[in-house]
Formats: sequence, structure tokens, C-alpha cells
Amino acid sequence: MLQPGVNSSLFESLSVGAVTLPNRVLMAPLTRMRATDPGDVPNPLMAEYYRQRAGAGLIVTEGTQISPVGKGNMDTPGIYSDEQVEGWRLITDAVHAEGGRIAAQLWHVGRVSHESLTGGVQPVSASATEYRSRATLKGPDGLPQRADSPTPRRLSVEEIASTVADYARAARNARDAGFDLVEIHGAHGYLVHQFLGTASNHREDEYGGSQENRARFALEVVDAVTAAWSPDRTGIRISPQGSFNGLDEDDLPMALHLAGEFSRRGLAFIHLSEPDWAGGPALQDDFRKELRAAYDGAIFGAGAYTFEKAERLIGLDLIDAVAFGRSFIANPDLPERLRTGAELNAPVPATFYGGDAQGYTDYPTLTA
Ligand code: PHB
Repeated sequence: MLQPGVNSSLFESLSVGAVTLPNRVLMAPLTRMRATDPGDVPNPLMAEYYRQRAGAGLIVTEGTQISPVGKGNMDTPGIYSDEQVEGWRLITDAVHAEGGRIAAQLWHVGRVSHESLTGGVQPVSASATEYRSRATLKGPDGLPQRADSPTPRRLSVEEIASTVADYARAARNARDAGFDLVEIHGAHGYLVHQFLGTASNHREDEYGGSQENRARFALEVVDAVTAAWSPDRTGIRISPQGSFNGLDEDDLPMALHLAGEFSRRGLAFIHLSEPDWAGGPALQDDFRKELRAAYDGAIFGAGAYTFEKAERLIGLDLIDAVAFGRSFIANPDLPERLRTGAELNAPVPATFYGGDAQGYTDYPTLTA
């Protein structure tokens, strides 16, 4: 658990590419499944939720799919249609009006999906690897219902190019919607990660085989997004050694290879999702040191962090900021509570996914 009440380096400012954060307590991306159906459109309820959390040094939004086939859960918002851009504009305006900053997390789930979410289209991946991942469909009661994902279809080289172009469109849309930054979701066994991992990528072309080839898709996405907007507006999330969605392997060498490439491209941040929240061997300080040496930009740590862990790693100069998930669901004013040593509200898991304002915008602030 968090141990609030410390007067700490977490409340110093931090430069992240083109943006200055007033504190280092960030809101992690959190799937909440409350976009408007049909159309997967961000709405005023979501704007109120993010507005309440604008005290974060930076908000990273829930994953927002870059295309219809990139969707893996019911009622997650998209960022490919004009209507969705208008919806996101409500959210960025609300956060900015409260003095906050917000990054859009660009998401393609790849094989972690289901035909009923993608408009009848078979989910896609690096290879047609059978893996029983779980998608979240909408049940008859409108509430989330888990289902097995089908075996995906392998993307052709032409389809890889059009998927990369979808990321570029999403980045332009994020800029046009008023976001401060974008975060490419390269973690947790979703599409980018499916190309990186040997368990999911069995390709024999230039996108598979060697470490360099398996990294090619990720770097093409990075290049497309930075060309569409700017490297100093772009970051990426990775999850080395994480076992979520079945991609556990010793991929620390891949993470360091990527970090060097991200550094050469001037990416604003790496968001390091550590295995602790969902399984896999914990990262060690030796790896963090190598990551720090390989990469010049800001490093965010996340994944069941305690306040002490964040303090220790910032003190050792191994990370620059920490992202909290569940504590931010339950505490809209989390940075203020940590700063003043106030008590924290407990999150209620039953209302994490789907539903309405209950368990979403009704957690009290200290002043409420
Ligand atoms: C989830 O919905 O459980 C989820 C989504 C995206 C992630 C991790 C977990 O990166």
C-alpha cells in the first residue's frame, strides 16, 4: 500500500519532452469501459472523471483503440473517428481548465480480442498463434462478460503498413483533440508486444526472427507517430518480464535494445510497467541502471508501486516519476492526499469496469 505523509521529491517538477509536470505523481492508464456505444465515443461522464484527477503530474488515459479491429473490450473509447476526437476534446478541455496535463494512450490489442468487438472481423496479430487470451464482451445485462479470444489472423506486410498508418492518424487525432502527449502502448501482450515476443511472433520475414526484426514493428510505429506529431510529444509503455496476456520471457535484452532506439529518436518518456501488478519476476536495480544508461528521456515507473519504492528509486535516480492506478481510481485528489498525509479511500473492484457514475466519479475528495 501507499504510505502517505512524506514530504518528498515526488512534489518537484519534471520536464517530459515539450511538457513540464508540476509533480511526479502520475495517473496510470486504467480501463474503465464507459465510452458511449455505438461509436466508442468519449463522453461528458468521462470528462468529469478525468477533470477530477487533473491534480496528477500527468494523466495517461485509458487505452484508446487506433482502429475498430484494435478494440479488445466493451465500451473502450476510440481515437480514429471525428466524433471520437470531439469527445476527447471535452476531456482535454476539462483537464486543462483545472490546470492539468493529459496524454492519450494509443492502443491496439491485436489477438486479445473477439469478433463481437471488432464488427465481425477476425482479430489480428504478428502470427496466427493460438493463445487463449480473454476479451471483455458486453453481456445481456450490459455488464462486462469475459470470453476466450479466437486464434488471430496473421497480418500481411501490406496490412502492417496500414496499421502503422492507423497509429499516425491516431497521433494526429490526439494532437487535434488537444492532448499534451501520446503514449504508445507497447506493453502487456497487446499488438506491439505480440511482435516483440518470441512466443507470439513466428514470422520468417523482416518482422520476425532476430531481436532487430521483432523490434521493427514497434519502431515503425514510433517513427510514424513522431512524424505525425513530434518526438517530444511521444512516449511509450513497455513491460519487460511481465507475464500478462501470456508473453512472459526473458526480454530484458529487447527492452534495452528498444531503449537505445527510443533514445536515438528523442522520445520524451519510457513508461516502465513492472511485473509486480500482474505477474512475472520483479525487475532489479541492475536492470534499471542499464535502462537509465541506455535512454536519455524521462522514465516513469508503474506497477503496484508503494510510496517508499517510488521515493527510493527516484532518490537513486533510476526513475523520474511514478504512476499509480488503483489508488487514483479511489482518490481523485491522490497527489494532495500524499502530500498532506491524508487517509486514502479504498477502491471498489466491482465498479472498475463498465457501468455509470457509481464507483467512477463519486469517490470523495478531501474537501468534499
Ligand atoms: C485491462 O483492461 O485489464 C488492461 C488493459 C490494458 C492494459 C492492462 C490491463 O495494459
